[in-house]
Order: sequence, then C-alpha cells, then structure tokens
Amino acid sequence: MSDIEIRRYEASDLDRCRALWAELTQQHREIYDDPSIGGDDPGMEFDGHLDRVGPERVWLAVVGDDVVGLTSLIQQGEEAEVEPVVVSSEHRGRRVGQILVGYAIEEAKKLGVLCLGVKPAARNQDAISFFYDAGFKTLGHIHMFMWLGESTPDMWKKGPELFGKTFDY
Ligand SMILES: CC(C)(COP(=O)(O)OP(=O)(O)OC[C@H]1O[C@@H](n2cnc3c(N)ncnc32)[C@H](O)[C@@H]1OP(=O)(O)O)[C@@H](O)C(=O)NCCC(=O)NCCS
Repeated sequence: MSDIEIRRYEASDLDRCRALWAELTQQHREIYDDPSIGGDDPGMEFDGHLDRVGPERVWLAVVGDDVVGLTSLIQQGEEAEVEPVVVSSEHRGRRVGQILVGYAIEEAKKLGVLCLGVKPAARNQDAISFFYDAGFKTLGHIHMFMWLGESTPDMWKKGPELFGKTFDY
C-alpha cells in the first residue's frame, strides 16, 4: 500500500483508536470462542493503555483521512514491548501491519532499546506468523499456566511441542 502514512497519536484520534482496540478484542473473542472477553465496551480499554504508555508512544497508520491501524511501545529502560498491533479488518493483508511494526522497531532503536519483544496470545497463530515475519525470531520467557477455573473438555486445543513436551494452548 503506497499511500500509507505513519504518524503520532493525536487527541482527535481517540474514538478511532477505541474502535481499533475493539477489533483487537474481537480477534481474541474469536480465537478463544468467548464473547465475554473485554466486557461490554472493549474499546474503552484503549484509554487505560494510552494513560500507561503516553500519546508520544502511540502511532497510527493513516490512509487519506482514515486511521486504519495502531501500534505502541511500552518501554522500561533497555527493554520494550510492541503492544498492540492492530489493523482494521478491511485493510488487513496489505502490509499495513508490517509498516507499523517496522516503524515501532525504528523508534525503539532511537530510544536505545536493546531487547524488543512481543507477547501474542499463543492461540493467535496469525499474529505469531506476522511477528515472526517482522523479525521476532528469538524466544524469551514462556508464559506457562494452569487453569483453576471451571473448564469444559474442549476448552483448550492440543498444541505445539517445546523441548519434547506438548502444551495445550
Ligand atoms: C496481525 C495484524 C496486525 C497483521 O496486520 P496486516 O496489515 O494484516 O499484516 P500484513 O499485511 O503486514 O501481513 C504481513 C504478513 O503477516 C502474516 N499475516 C498477517 N495477517 C495474516 C492472516 N490474517 N493470516 C495469515 N497470515 C497473516 C503473513 O505472513 C503476511 O505475509 P504476506 O504479506 O507474505 O502474506 C492484523 O491481522 C490484525 O490487526 N489482527 C488482529 C489484531 C491482532 O491479533 N494483533 C496482534 C496481536 S497484538
């Protein structure tokens, strides 16, 4: 996509960013088959995220007047995380996401970040493949958990192997 511009978040982008955050939540609702994820108004979670990271660390992909994608950087000294990356569903598959991530990587370099990570949900295979293509090819911490709540037999999928152990995901 040639007419794409990346720019910093501005206050007038709030509603559009809430809508993109709702699309991010929708992705998680679909992969976990759980419409309750994110609550009644999931877009509002963007506001808390904006407070945490600050508007100077939120960047938008813009086509014409339309904000079609969002990313941001959570930095702690020499470590940082790109979180989230979301592209509006009708604009996916046209490299907008890769352009956004590439921008965040360059910003992280300017900030002196040495270790730049992403933490996609294990079930988000599209995102894992997307981030791998963007250059995130080294594994850091693995988040292992056990589910202590109520469960159904098909709640978890049989998943990938690591060091000879098979995990659910
Ligand atoms: C993941 C996401 C940001 C990718 O954005 P995008 O603009 O569609 O991605 P790109 O067009 O830049 O894709 C580049 C590569 O990523 C992979 N990819 C992206 N979306 C994919 C999909 N839906 N299915 C399979 N692979 C996909 C492909 O390998 C693709 O390579 P290709 O161009 O050779 O086909 C977008 O699909 C999205 O917003 N998803 C919902 C939110 C989400 O899950 N975010 C990630 C976790 S924070």
